[in-house]
Amino acid sequence: MQQNIAIFASGTGTNAQRLISHFKTSDLASVALVVSNKKSAGVLRIAEAEHIPTLVINKEMLYDPSFLLLHLSRKKIDLIVLAGFLLKIPQFLIRQYPDKIINIHPALLPKYGGRGMYGHHVHAAVIDHGEIESGITIHFINENYDEGKIILQKKCAVRPEDDAKSLAQKVQQLEHRWFPVAVEKIIRENLKD
Ligand code: GRF
Repeated sequence: MQQNIAIFASGTGTNAQRLISHFKTSDLASVALVVSNKKSAGVLRIAEAEHIPTLVINKEMLYDPSFLLLHLSRKKIDLIVLAGFLLKIPQFLIRQYPDKIINIHPALLPKYGGRGMYGHHVHAAVIDHGEIESGITIHFINENYDEGKIILQKKCAVRPEDDAKSLAQKVQQLEHRWFPVAVEKIIRENLKD
């Protein structure tokens, strides 16, 4: 049976696009729902263009178990993938989807994670600290920001000439290449259970 993925995203949605394209031709899974807390988010336009149902939520809806679980169960969602979703995931959702909520973080956790560490803040901090490498971390969500079990990390070099912008581009290339691979790996493991 095909697994149904829900993508939660607040922004542009370039990773969501990669995931949608990857699973479009897959027998294993498909993206069945895109959830965003921002009406103007690019990810919603991507979903519409791909004919994927969307759900726009506010904080109250996210933290209301009856509302959110109803919408996820209507689409028979098996796995939730966070692709730049900026609100904290509620406990009831983590309990309902144990080891079935995956996040991508644009740095090598446990460094440069936690509250406020998103987007350019992450890359600026990596540059400020003179790191010689950065990368991506794909991990399960638990009750603390960016502390769940790590699924996959990939690294890139930080060169002396890099700034936050050029580093962001390098990291984004890793995200686009590896996020669909990691999500597929988890789906294959779930199907074995
Ligand atoms: C990515 O950098 C991801 O690591 C972070 O949010 C960003 C989303 O970018 N969690 P996009 O909207 O997929 O382009």
